Amino acid sequence: WLRSNFSSEILPARPTLFDFHGVSMTKHFTDNWENTQNFKARPDDILIATYPKSGTTWVCYMLNLLYFGNMSPERQKSVTLNERVPFLELCAPPRPKGKDLADQLPTSPRLIKTHLPVQFVPKSFWEQRCRIVYVAHNSKDTVVSYYHFGRMNSLHPELGDWSTFLQDFMEGKMVFGSWYKHVNSWWEKKQTYSKLHYMFYEDLTEDSGREIDRLCSFLGLFPSAEEKEKVRAAVMFDNMKQNKMVNGSTVQIMNHDVSPFMRKGKVADWKNHFTVSQNERFDEDYKQKMKNPTLHFRTEV
Ligand code: A3P
Repeated sequence: WLRSNFSSEILPARPTLFDFHGVSMTKHFTDNWENTQNFKARPDDILIATYPKSGTTWVCYMLNLLYFGNMSPERQKSVTLNERVPFLELCAPPRPKGKDLADQLPTSPRLIKTHLPVQFVPKSFWEQRCRIVYVAHNSKDTVVSYYHFGRMNSLHPELGDWSTFLQDFMEGKMVFGSWYKHVNSWWEKKQTYSKLHYMFYEDLTEDSGREIDRLCSFLGLFPSAEEKEKVRAAVMFDNMKQNKMVNGSTVQIMNHDVSPFMRKGKVADWKNHFTVSQNERFDEDYKQKMKNPTLHFRTEV
């Protein structure tokens, strides 16, 4: 255990990555496996599923405001988003387990976050026919965001330099495994499971109002134009960055001096990181892995 130089909390040593049923994981997301798998979903639970660094926090906050923004303004100021929308598989003592937080959520519906690949989602979510919102983010910006997140977050395994990290990403040696398999298998699930809304980070940055409308129609919500506008404004990058309940500043394991959690919030920051030859190699490899013509990502907007 190491003492962090930016807070009084004792930080655990960084975890190691290992193969877990074919997916790279760390113990923080597998240690509570049986309990997580036995989670008892309710029919009105809403699962927000993403590969890490896809805009999870953004969409969690959006849903949180759409459902509860008016009802309990006090809760918005005193309870962090991480508690309002628990991270189901997280098991990082001394923090409470995500599964327990989800069990104890006082809200209805319960909003629950997960990064699990589709094959690992606890079966009760399917049995109860829960609504699921999946958010996908183009691979190039995701790997850049993940790299900076890995540097600032001590729950992430040790990482090498940028070019090593990029290579690891292409090989699926990331926490929660291969981005390529994650986005593809969730996309395939959508073809047979109608209560899945598949969103793109790039669409959100392009027109968040339109995406909020689509979300509402999926969720069966009918907020007034004024309410929608309030949500749209609250979830703007600069506003979220200032908001201590959602910007990660209360999370002790993150060092925002290394890189802020609310970092850039832009599409195409990859252009500031990829060299020309890295980009060529990446594109070549991408073509091999992304054969489904119906799943299309934009790397600029
Ligand atoms: P960057 O590192 O590219 O800035 P997640 O919540 O899944 O961990 O995703 C984090 C990424 O989403 C970060 O990307 C973060 O800045 C971005 N993000 C969070 N809120 C956002 C918002 N309101 N608008 C745009 N991007 C947002």
